Amino acid sequence: FARACTRAELDREVMAGLCRQLAHHHQDQTEELQAVLQWTIEDEQTKAVAQDELGTLSTNLASTYEELSMLYRISGSMRVTQGGGAFFENICRELLEVMHLQAAAALLYPREHSGSSEDELVCAGEQPLPKEQLTQIIRRYLAPRLAADMRTLVDNQFASNAAHLGPGVEKIRTIIAVPLTSGDKIKGVLLGVNKLTGEFDSNDLKLIGSISSQAAVFLENHHLYEDLQDLLMGMLHALTSSIDAKDPYTSGHSRRVALISRKLAELSGFDPHRAGRVYLAGLLHDVGKIGMPESVLLKAGRLTDAEYQKVKRHPEVGAGIISGIRQMEDVIPTILCHHERPDGQGYPKGLAGDQIPIEALIVGLSDSLDAMTSSRTYRAPMPLEAVVAEIRRCSGTQFDSQLVELLLSLDLAEFLEYLREATDADAESAQGVNR
Ligand SMILES: [Fe+2]
Repeated sequence: FARACTRAELDREVMAGLCRQLAHHHQDQTEELQAVLQWTIEDEQTKAVAQDELGTLSTNLASTYEELSMLYRISGSMRVTQGGGAFFENICRELLEVMHLQAAAALLYPREHSGSSEDELVCAGEQPLPKEQLTQIIRRYLAPRLAADMRTLVDNQFASNAAHLGPGVEKIRTIIAVPLTSGDKIKGVLLGVNKLTGEFDSNDLKLIGSISSQAAVFLENHHLYEDLQDLLMGMLHALTSSIDAKDPYTSGHSRRVALISRKLAELSGFDPHRAGRVYLAGLLHDVGKIGMPESVLLKAGRLTDAEYQKVKRHPEVGAGIISGIRQMEDVIPTILCHHERPDGQGYPKGLAGDQIPIEALIVGLSDSLDAMTSSRTYRAPMPLEAVVAEIRRCSGTQFDSQLVELLLSLDLAEFLEYLREATDADAESAQGVNR
């Protein structure tokens, strides 16, 4: 009787009193009441178990919802055009919040054949160790373990297990690390450091596993995108070099115009993407000269009217060539208008002032700067003072006056030296390919 009361959490005294009263009832009444009592007890027990299960279920549901919405947010931010660093910063911030961590980090290994040998460490939260030390711990201690079984690694006694790694390691109590893989290769490591409440458990393991799968897909796509970009830029450089190669004096001209244009775009406050498009437009500005006879392009003396009319068609021819490439649509107006002038005296349409896209004014000024500072068949490069004077003289007529101010705010001697070095390096690598 006492055990039954304890199990059902009933007061023994009260129950004993109840039973004594029941003893005054008939045998059959007592049995009925006993049965009712039994059902009530069982019912209460079932309800308590169900309550427990409901509690566990809603906790699980809440954390699953949190995980799913995080994965949804992460997949929403998977834009391959953004840098890998920005994407992984976002992932680290999400990890920090959902897993309740002191810090999260991602170490991205350098790509093969990228020319870089530097790892990139992206962090969020309060870092327990300096970046270099954390990188060393991942590279020397965690990476070999992850490479051995390609699975998530959890160490809830990290401070004692890894004490031999040097001073400061005791600041990392618990760690969870997962490899970012592509095929059988590890491309990086995702890391959670110091869980704020308790230790890492199977839920954390599952969660970081799902995130790393998404992140690895992103990394793979991002690398493919970079490869495509490199291929495209390589093709465009080859195309424009073939135009420049028609005249040994204009070697590297397109690339220098592209670099000057990008600099002016940056000085104008353009974001990196828009500045990149201006670079492309600068690279391709004279692509329309591809079909022009060398007898005209290389002519040392004055062009006849007919020849000049032919040369003046190159912006339209160039725009026509580029219109065949859908991804280049936005650079067409720049190519078309790079010989237009603010005073309306340019070609092909004689547009003036605001009618000319700012990008075209940038490329136009960059084109003239490079023409004046490079050798031509008929003259040596102009001295820098003369170049500056000429640009100032044409400010507001041939060139946009605000752009002129931005250009002349640069240390031009130093900038021209940088341009020369950049195009010399291009020429060397091109010779390397030809050898
Ligand atoms: Fe041109």
